[in-house]
Order: sequence, then structure tokens, then C-alpha cells
Amino acid sequence: DGQGLVKYKGFWLLQLLFRPSLSAHNNFRAKATDVILSTMPKSGTTWLKALTFSIANRNVFPIDQTPLLTSTPHMLVPFLEFDVYWEQENPNLENIPCPRIFATHMPFEILPDSIHESDCRIIYICRNPLDQFVSHRLFFLENKIEKEADPLDIDEAFNMFCQGIHPCGPFWDHMLGYWNAHLENPRKVLFIKYEDLKEDITSQVKKIAEFMGFPFSQEEEEQGLIDQISGLCSFESLSNLAVNKTGNLKGIVENSTFFRKGQVGDWTNYLTPAMVERIKKLMDSKFGNSGLTFKI
Ligand code: A3P
Repeated sequence: DGQGLVKYKGFWLLQLLFRPSLSAHNNFRAKATDVILSTMPKSGTTWLKALTFSIANRNVFPIDQTPLLTSTPHMLVPFLEFDVYWEQENPNLENIPCPRIFATHMPFEILPDSIHESDCRIIYICRNPLDQFVSHRLFFLENKIEKEADPLDIDEAFNMFCQGIHPCGPFWDHMLGYWNAHLENPRKVLFIKYEDLKEDITSQVKKIAEFMGFPFSQEEEEQGLIDQISGLCSFESLSNLAVNKTGNLKGIVENSTFFRKGQVGDWTNYLTPAMVERIKKLMDSKFGNSGLTFKI
């Protein structure tokens, strides 16, 4: 397909993550206290990692000594399939302090069974598909993940995106899997949107903390802790830290490429009205009356 993807159970998974995803599926044992962050690539994973890490560890590290100042969010919250099961079938995850926070790009249907069966919680963040597409395109080109393959031009890539052929796609199935799970059991799956975090970070941080089982006390609120965490995890703050400007993940992805622009609506600079029309129609037909909508 030119993007290094393989089709599995109706989804297009990154080939290099396929084996580790299967290992995670077969071997990961979720604990009731675990928090699983699920996302499609380029939907706000890095941001959500920083926020949840900060919320869970706010009594462990004072905010001015948080490890986020010296480690990237990706080092602090590992991807199940990218970091944890990359090299080993059965890594020892027992000694990680609770709550353990892991991220994954796996569709809901492909998550390890123990995630479904245990009382662990899942936070899903998604982003309007136009921004997600543009963000991914630029990320992909910058990192040259498929060095040998000719990069697709934007029209070809968009065409494939609309056919569902992109990492973890089709986007509508990935989103609807978690959306329906959230509707069915909102205590198990929290569903948030990148745009909502941008619009009102304070109420979203509160909501995430409550969902994780670490609500802010009135005293903490009065001390301004929510604002401190939101500020620390903002694009401006994280993207300016030296640790996020240098180095890479597994020699494949430059840390700096996780921080590009961090805005809503950058797609207006890249996509034609015809492309936008096509996505709108696609969203109407795929999301139907599920209740899932994006402002475009
Ligand atoms: P853009 O390419 O539109 O700038 P992911 O973390 O899932 O890979 O998503 C990356 C996208 O989230 C990029 O979007 C990146 O700039 C943006 N991003 C990263 N950290 C962010 C933060 N703290 N706040 C807002 N957006 C952030």
C-alpha cells in the first residue's frame, strides 16, 4: 500500500507494530488500577500522556520537579505495542508503580482481552479527521518512516485516507469502536476530543482526573493545581523544553516531530474545498446518527 500497512481484522495497522501488537494482545495482563490511553496517531497522544502522567503523579513530584521537564511524555508513558512489547514477548511489568499508564493505537476490537475483562479504565482521545490527516502527512514526511517508498503526494494520501487506508484506519471504525464502547459503559471508556481540550482545558483536566479516580480536592483547586498542570502540559510549554527538541524514539521518530503546530484548523492551509466536502460526506455517512460529530 506504500505506507507500510497490513490489514488485520478490518483495520490497517502499521507493519512494524503488527508483531508487538499481537504479543501485547496475547500477553498483556491488565490490572484494575491501570489507565490505558487509546488514540489514533496524531490525535493528541503526547498531550494526553503528559496530562494523565501529571494528574496521577501530582503528589509524587512537586510540579517544578516533574520528570516531564527532563523526559519526553513518550518515555514516561510507554506505548504497549511500540515500547513495551517491541523486543520481548513477556516484559516484567509487575513492579511499575500504580497506577500504570500505557498508551496504545490499537482499535477497541483488537485490545488485549485482559483490558476488556479487568476493571482498568480507557481514555480515548480523537481529533477532527482533517487536522489528523494533515498532522499525519507532515509527521510522516518529516520522519521519512518509509524511507524506501516514494512518499505519496497529498492527493493520493488523502484518497487513501478516505478509503480508510492509513495507520489504524479506517478512522471512522477506530473512533466508532471507542465511541460505542463509551456509550455502553462510560465508567470504562472516557471519550474526549482534541478540540475540547483546546477549548476548555480546565474542565477537561478535571474530568480526566475524576475518571482516573484522582479527583482534585477543593484545596488543590484553590491552590491552582489544575492551571499549573494545564500550563505545564500546554503545547507552548512542552514544545520549548530541551528534552522535546532533541533525540528520538527508537531511532525512528524525532521527538521534536511530536510538536509541530498544536492548533485546531490547520487543515485550511492544506486542503481544497473539494477535499473538505468529501470528508464531510464521508463523516455523515459513516457516523450517521451515532451521535459522534466534529465541528468543521
Ligand atoms: P499538529 O501536527 O497539528 O501540530 P500525537 O501526539 O497523537 O502524535 O499528535 C501530535 C499532534 O498533537 C501534533 O499536531 C502536535 O503538534 C500536537 N500536540 C503535541 N503536544 C501538544 C500539546 N501539549 N498541546 C496541544 N497539541 C499538542
